[in-house]
Amino acid sequence: MQRSSPLIQARAVTRRFESAAGDFATVLDRIDFDVAAGDYLALTGPSGSGKTTLLSCLSGLDQPSSGSVRIGDDDLGALDDKALAHLRRTTLGFVFQRTDLLDELVVIDNILLPAVRRRGRVSAEILADTAQLMDRLGIGHLGARAPHELSGGQRQRVGICRALVNRPPILIADEPTGALHRESTDDVLDVFDELNASGTTIVVVTHDPEVARRARSRRHLVDGRMVDAAPVAATG
Ligand SMILES: Nc1ncnc2c1ncn2[C@@H]1O[C@H](COP(=O)(O)OP(=O)(O)OP(=O)(O)O)[C@@H](O)[C@H]1O
Ligand SMILES: [Mg+2]
Repeated sequence: MQRSSPLIQARAVTRRFESAAGDFATVLDRIDFDVAAGDYLALTGPSGSGKTTLLSCLSGLDQPSSGSVRIGDDDLGALDDKALAHLRRTTLGFVFQRTDLLDELVVIDNILLPAVRRRGRVSAEILADTAQLMDRLGIGHLGARAPHELSGGQRQRVGICRALVNRPPILIADEPTGALHRESTDDVLDVFDELNASGTTIVVVTHDPEVARRARSRRHLVDGRMVDAAPVAATG
């Protein structure tokens, strides 16, 4: 992967949704957005400003109505489904705003699923890493539970472990600490700091000024447009 140009490059990304009445709402409006390799970027903005929609476009979960997204040398719009799935499996970890765990699998199997999908098996190293991360995030004792037996904050931490299981070079996290108390939030932020220090590029959407403050750089979305001011950081 090319390190000199931005690792993630969004150009004029626009996303429109058609309403039931047939008119179009522009949720992202010609967004230009670069994330350098090794950056740790916090994206803030009011509810409904388009943060989740932007992360979905950046990670290939959704396609912009117009504009382009590149990750490394790959233009996401030019990849077929198989190539996109491969890129996502090998390059991205994604923490969803509403953690989507499979209830037919116990917690540890949910966490290990991306490793199984990527390599067909789970190495001893990944098992040991995962156990250590679960302990650090205070969910080490929950591996055998069904997801529906967990609290919202516990599910969120399971989602974080799952996103990190393949040690992705890019971590994209949508409100990863929204359901967590301060102490658990600090545990997550410590893990993010260490990952970033060892080279992981992180993009995190947050409403929490403390989370935004801990990042290296900050961007702010208002009504689907990127604005430079970062009011959250200024008060942090
Ligand atoms: N699939 C969709 N169809 C129609 N409208 C959508 C769709 N997804 C998102 N929207 C609209 O796009 C706007 C932005 O939504 P988005 O989820 O990106 O906001 P957000 O900034 O992540 O908000 P929050 O902080 O509440 O998570 C909202 O007005 C939402 O209703
Ligand atoms: Mg959102």
